[in-house]
Amino acid sequence: GVWTARIVTLFPEAFPGILGLSLTGKALAQGLWNLQTIPLREFGVGKHRNVDDTPAGGGAGMVIRADVMDAALRDAKRGGPAGPVLYMSPRGRPLTQSRARALAEGPGVTLICGRFEGVDQRVLDAHDVEEVSIGDYVLTGGEIAAQVLIDATVRLIPRVLGNQDSLAEESFSIGNRGLLEHPQYTKPAQWEGREIPEVLLSGNHAAIAAWREAEAERLTKERRPDLWRAWADAAGKHPGQAS
Ligand code: ADE
Repeated sequence: GVWTARIVTLFPEAFPGILGLSLTGKALAQGLWNLQTIPLREFGVGKHRNVDDTPAGGGAGMVIRADVMDAALRDAKRGGPAGPVLYMSPRGRPLTQSRARALAEGPGVTLICGRFEGVDQRVLDAHDVEEVSIGDYVLTGGEIAAQVLIDATVRLIPRVLGNQDSLAEESFSIGNRGLLEHPQYTKPAQWEGREIPEVLLSGNHAAIAAWREAEAERLTKERRPDLWRAWADAAGKHPGQAS
């Protein structure tokens, strides 16, 4: 079976969205991965196929009903188990490159996209759902977050990326020691009075590698002290100490 993303959503028309274009779109058309949407509305109750109700204890907004989400998740599981069930939520553990790597190695993922104030906690507990966030900000719904997770994961599936070498060098990669990637330049060598760093034109591969490593460390230290500390601890360095 090919890597499969199943998406429980009130807006199935939001998929494949941008995932249907470029690299992920070509890979989808080639059958390198598979996308299934499970329209939550179809599992709604009553004439109006209601999916939500007011929060227990009062307060603003609406909450997705446990019975409705349960029916959708049972339907999703009819196709056989395909990886973990994740609920896209700002309350979740942050998505990381290593999580994307782990998901890409598995059979796929089932993603719950919320709207409104959330989903009844009981159905999340009953189905062992893990909450995953794509960052410390609040989106209108989980659909964009789901597309972010799928994009980050699908590009790591073998044969999806044309040049797999680029994976080794990019930000957060093992080859880049989990740091941010160094800056990139291309011709022309002079542009509006700005030059390409001389070492990159030197042909000295050892010097170029050293410059790139130093730049990765400088950028990470400046912009992401959290990543810098994790790397420096692992590498046995004191923060502030150069390579
Ligand atoms: N849904 C709403 N906000 C979100 C976020 N930051 N991450 C994941 N899913 C979300």
